Amino acid sequence: MSEDKELSFSDAIKKASSSFTRFPLIPVKGIPLMNHITNNYDAVAAFCPDPSDLLIATYPKAGTTWTQEIVDLLLHNGDAEICKRAPIPVRSPFLEICSPPPIPSGLDLLKKTDPPRIIKTHLPFQLVPTGFWENKCKVIYVARNAKDNLVSYFHFDQMNLTQPDPGPWEGYIHKFMRGELAWGSWYDHVKGYWKEQEKRNILYLFYEDMKANPRREVERIMRYLDLSLSDDVISRIVELTSFKKMKENPMANYTFIPHPVFDQSISAFMRKGEVGDWKNYFTPEQSAEFDEDYEKKMKNVNIPFRTQL
Ligand code: A3P
Repeated sequence: MSEDKELSFSDAIKKASSSFTRFPLIPVKGIPLMNHITNNYDAVAAFCPDPSDLLIATYPKAGTTWTQEIVDLLLHNGDAEICKRAPIPVRSPFLEICSPPPIPSGLDLLKKTDPPRIIKTHLPFQLVPTGFWENKCKVIYVARNAKDNLVSYFHFDQMNLTQPDPGPWEGYIHKFMRGELAWGSWYDHVKGYWKEQEKRNILYLFYEDMKANPRREVERIMRYLDLSLSDDVISRIVELTSFKKMKENPMANYTFIPHPVFDQSISAFMRKGEVGDWKNYFTPEQSAEFDEDYEKKMKNVNIPFRTQL
């Protein structure tokens, strides 16, 4: 085994840090993705999951990490220690991620992990490897209302020094509305999975529901995974996956991704974890413009998003 393969995930990132920059976006079938991901996309598209693998799909900043942690705990009967065995991207590999070596790509990590695996993706429905559908893998999709999703992504793009510079807030709103951010249009993303949910047996969840009633949503995930855990274990999982607990958890809070990749002095990965934070950023004029555009883009579907609880 080479020296690089023995590096821990965090050490590999530290070693590669001099080659980090804000990477450009290059489209795959019209979807802007970071150039390393685009260059590796053919290998990702050819990935063949095991039928026991689970896919957690989200638009960036919709509650991916939260859901990954819930699922890992559900699969390990709420055992907090086992779920601290490794940082979340090792426990639940990010399918398409590809960064400068020696950082292992998502596919590298998947090769080293035995099924059933908890696989994360931000790919829109049409870019998900067809093997997931051919093998009838379970898929959990988590959607978050557009305005809070945008605010969260704006902060993330400031602190994640590998994503394109978000620039000022005003311009960022328009980039979001035009679908120019990494992983493309939020509108198409949430609609793409929504339209396929019945045919593909996708469990479609909302961040706002998870905030409003975490226990009910944890139980929904549990049933979808054909698990039956005791009430005590469910209560423990709800507690362990509260925002406060996850913010303190070094295996979930992304402090394992060192500066200069994630600069959490700019904005914490576990930033606020709230519904309705958008009201602190959108002016009334921006909100009205955003809503008008939203109505046009979402008029053909009725996805019950909530922008406040
Ligand atoms: P904010 O930036 O609004 O705080 P992702 O994991 O998809 O990147 O999403 C990150 C967003 O989910 C961040 O939102 C983060 O704070 C929030 N989040 C992470 N864990 C959470 C939890 N346990 N409860 C509520 N929100 C959580």
